[in-house]
Amino acid sequence: MKKETKCVHTGSYRDVVVNKLAALEETEDGVLFSSGMAAMSTSVMSFARSGDHVVMRNALYGGTHAFATYLLDRLGIHYNFTATGSDAVCSIVNDRTKVIVKESPTNNPLMDIIDIRKVARFAKTRGITSIIDNTFATPVNQNPIKLGIDIVVHSGTKYLGGHSDICCGIAVTSSKNTRHIRTTARHLGGSLGGVETTICSPATTSHAKISAEERKRVGITDSLLRLSAGIEHVEDLVADLDQTLNS
Ligand SMILES: Cc1ncc(COP(=O)(O)O)c(C=O)c1O
Repeated sequence: MKKETKCVHTGSYRDVVVNKLAALEETEDGVLFSSGMAAMSTSVMSFARSGDHVVMRNALYGGTHAFATYLLDRLGIHYNFTATGSDAVCSIVNDRTKVIVKESPTNNPLMDIIDIRKVARFAKTRGITSIIDNTFATPVNQNPIKLGIDIVVHSGTKYLGGHSDICCGIAVTSSKNTRHIRTTARHLGGSLGGVETTICSPATTSHAKISAEERKRVGITDSLLRLSAGIEHVEDLVADLDQTLNS
């Protein structure tokens, strides 16, 4: 394991999961999310901004469809749903199209498939980012990156989890795209910890993205430590703190 800390702002055990999935999908890196929908929506929002156009294939997972109809409009991002064939996907693109989103096979119950290589190649020639939801196929049956797709998204809650005991999502892609998605994810928010006690340095974690000048202005000094008391027994906590402060 490369990193030991559990803090979301500095890296964590998540790296192990990301490295495994990136290896399975034969790509470089990725970002782990709390759900498949978080992975999909953050990926789309990382590559399309107000005024841009997104092409979404018909018969996507309902949550992805709802994300487009409910949120893209509000963000000023135009979108079109298109028929399932690869020709239809390619023909609806315009000069403002920045992202193509598809599933293949599509989520239950239709199970349509698409010529992934054809759409990927087309997207590349137009400088469009292609995203595929590979939840249904899993990396065992299909590796879209090898077919030219830029970003592969999974809901880890389904086959990847396998035992119906985890809820997560992941987007795997090149290191460059990963940096983009990670930055969007950070801006959309993350969790600093769970119910356990944590001590961290805000200057290097939660507030690391704020300039040193701005941190100084709001009182976040480099030596400031944040202690968030969790649900451990109070006597254990006091003993741990005593031990640390006296060592
Ligand atoms: C194909 C597909 N993609 C994405 C999702 C959304 O995943 P999550 O429930 O982890 O947000 C689902 C959920 O059923 C799905 O079936």
